Amino acid sequence: MLDVTLRIARFTPKPEKASRRRGGSPFAKKSPFGDSGASSRPGRVRGKRWTQEYRVSVHANDSVLDCLLMIKREQDPSLAFRYSCGHGMCGSDAVAINGTPTLLCTAKVRDWVKPDSPDFTANEGFRPTGQPVDDDAQALDLDALEPGTGLVIDLAALPGFPTQRDLIADVDPMLDQIRRLRPYLEASGELKTTDDGKIDAFEYLQSPEQLARYELLSNCIACGVCEGSCPVYAGGEAFVGPAAMITVSRFLNDSRDSIADDRLDSLMGSDGASACQSVRACSMHCPKGIDVGEELWQTIQKVDAARKARQTADA
Ligand code: SF4
Ligand code: FES
Repeated sequence: MLDVTLRIARFTPKPEKASRRRGGSPFAKKSPFGDSGASSRPGRVRGKRWTQEYRVSVHANDSVLDCLLMIKREQDPSLAFRYSCGHGMCGSDAVAINGTPTLLCTAKVRDWVKPDSPDFTANEGFRPTGQPVDDDAQALDLDALEPGTGLVIDLAALPGFPTQRDLIADVDPMLDQIRRLRPYLEASGELKTTDDGKIDAFEYLQSPEQLARYELLSNCIACGVCEGSCPVYAGGEAFVGPAAMITVSRFLNDSRDSIADDRLDSLMGSDGASACQSVRACSMHCPKGIDVGEELWQTIQKVDAARKARQTADA
């Protein structure tokens, strides 16, 4: 067993004044007074911020989510965090662990624990394109630690988004961006018919090679880890963000989709492909193994080619 201190950046929002509480039910899909709240959403919610420490005895293979559930059950029921599946499938539990955006449920204590010393620096580093994510590369050698070394894990809400409470970030700006980019298949509608004109198959057939072009991208769970890592995204006003661009890329690579021109158009604005600075921090911790930076680069090239083709046609 390991004795670990979880150092959690906590936040309690200030109660909203009645005069500002005018958006209808927070559970309503659309407010009767306007949009879902995106335009009226304050950039930074005011409230009380502090750091709170909790000590837990856990196994090295426990997840950080296990630690939080133990704290909530046994020490402090007021601690707020979000999760659902517990298995890296739903994407609802992205936070910053030791400053790095990742999922609580897939983060093992052994990979994230660090000595409680200001001199300790994790070996983060950037990986070259094409190499898989190696979270073990930054893991501490627990057997080599001096007895009595204090171990900590720092936790904070996902960066780049407004914090709602404790470890819960408001990811609605990202979901709004994805929604705007039509995250669904727009097929031509031409189905295979029999000789007498009847519909023969309600399927849009694809070869295994065509499927392979977008299959990995379709695994994106909109967790926001890539957005939280992106130094340009930060709130999404200047850049649609990597998750939204991955959505576009997924359908651009799908042979059944028939609106590639519209999809490329949607990334031609100043907050689209040209806003990406190719930092590639978005690639580092995608839980689905998508090389987000490389995919964005491929999409940027498609957008540039489409823009040039249009300029030539107009000249
Ligand atoms: S691309 Fe990866 S990191 Fe980004 S939202 Fe999708 S699953 Fe999460
Ligand atoms: S709880 Fe669903 S991805 Fe972590």
